[in-house]
Amino acid sequence: MPIITWTEDMLVHVEKIDTQHKKLLVLLNDLNDAMNQGRDKKVLGNTIIALADYTYYHFMTEEKYFDQFQYPDSIRHKNEHQYFVEEVTRFQQQFDKGETKLSEDIILFLKSWVINHIMKSDQKFSPFLNARGIT
Ligand SMILES: [Fe+2]
Ligand SMILES: [Fe+2]
Repeated sequence: MPIITWTEDMLVHVEKIDTQHKKLLVLLNDLNDAMNQGRDKKVLGNTIIALADYTYYHFMTEEKYFDQFQYPDSIRHKNEHQYFVEEVTRFQQQFDKGETKLSEDIILFLKSWVINHIMKSDQKFSPFLNARGIT
């Protein structure tokens, strides 16, 4: 069962970014499923990497728009991205070394951060980008 379902209230009204957000939620659900199905460490590790890589790619998509149009809130927003990348990387390294396991708490952290970021920070750039013809 999915732990998060994309809903219209998460829209940022930029098609490319909304599509990436949907994919990000799919990857989070995949990770949750893999954990609940008791998949082995290799499968879990690969699922974590898939999520981390896609998250990074997604953040770069947003940040390219910020740079292109000199988005005024760019620094604060990029710092949020950086915080998340660092947390995920730290978790991934600890997981690889066998120092930590994937848990419901970790999934909850990832899920809450992503939803909160989309609904609070990403939705803030909608009017800015829309006004510059990015829809
Ligand atoms: Fe985003
Ligand atoms: Fe963002």
